[in-house]
Amino acid sequence: MVFAKMIEAEMASVAREVGDFIDSMLGRKDALFRSAHHLPSHGGKRMRPYLVVKSCEAVGGERVAAIGPAAAVELLHNFTLVHDDIMDNDTMRRGVPTVHVIWGIPTAILAGDLLFAEAFQAILRSTLDDRKARAAASALADATVRLSIGQFQDMSFEEREEITEGEYLEMISGKTAALFQACAEIGAIVGGGSEDGIAKLGAYGWNLGMAFQIFDDYLGITSNEEELGKPIGNDLREGKKTLIVIRGMQTPSRGMIKSLLGNKNASQAELASLISSLEGDGVLDYVRGKALGYVEEAKKALSSLPDSEPKKSLTQLVEFAVMRKK
Ligand code: IPE
Ligand code: IPE
Ligand code: MG
Ligand code: MG
Repeated sequence: MVFAKMIEAEMASVAREVGDFIDSMLGRKDALFRSAHHLPSHGGKRMRPYLVVKSCEAVGGERVAAIGPAAAVELLHNFTLVHDDIMDNDTMRRGVPTVHVIWGIPTAILAGDLLFAEAFQAILRSTLDDRKARAAASALADATVRLSIGQFQDMSFEEREEITEGEYLEMISGKTAALFQACAEIGAIVGGGSEDGIAKLGAYGWNLGMAFQIFDDYLGITSNEEELGKPIGNDLREGKKTLIVIRGMQTPSRGMIKSLLGNKNASQAELASLISSLEGDGVLDYVRGKALGYVEEAKKALSSLPDSEPKKSLTQLVEFAVMRKK
């Protein structure tokens, strides 16, 4: 895992700068600000701000201009996590209890709202000229609309018996890939990229997001809680139609999936035997393969950009998305 360590070290340096920026925005001591600061103060991988910074550099922009917008996307991401954990009934994230578990649901809703507003403040108060600020804010707002639609689909799929792979892909395109796309576009906008450069980086970011979410669903069932920092198997207990479930339903694992899906009491032992059944039926290979397909598409989208160190970092980032342990 030498490679993963390398990119993690590089990501950590952007993460520190973005973390300082966020601390300065959310540093107030009253309860609402403390609840909003809870998840950001426990880090996370900070892939999205890294994507903003590297996309900015890949079109020849200066890193310093990208830090405010990078903080903006991380704030927006944290907003979605606070609300997502309420929706998904999740009690742990980043190895700590979720915001609604500590402060209650009403405060968690407000903490999310605060993070959402601060995200746009981070762009509007940055050093960007008006044209760039408007374009960056617009990309972030568009992504948030798509993300909300995707999150709504994610929830409504819990109530439906059969979901197709196409419906799943459309759902994750909204809930996850739209924000990754916006991060790359915002970086390219800030860096002064051409229309074509912005579009290519956007396509790269979207494919990265698709690969990331498919692999995330895979980790959510095959990893372990200590490593992942969030509970294992909860997608299944909540009745989530992940690609693993959709594909698995077409194999002899179907019976086992049907008995565990939506079953809040599914035990670790039952999950373990489902995983080995899914492995035996080729479902896990299929899902990994699907994620790798998007990795290849992401690399293709990058290929016509001029070679540079930031372009190399973006290639490593998409590989990291499907090699990570958490
Ligand atoms: C979690 O995103 C939400 C998804 C889109 C799956 P990350 O896995 O990037 O979360 P952090 O920021 O590293 O905690
Ligand atoms: C990811 O949600 C997308 C958003 C938060 C918008 P998930 O529910 O799939 O991700 P985790 O597993 O809670 O991180
Ligand atoms: Mg969730
Ligand atoms: Mg969710």
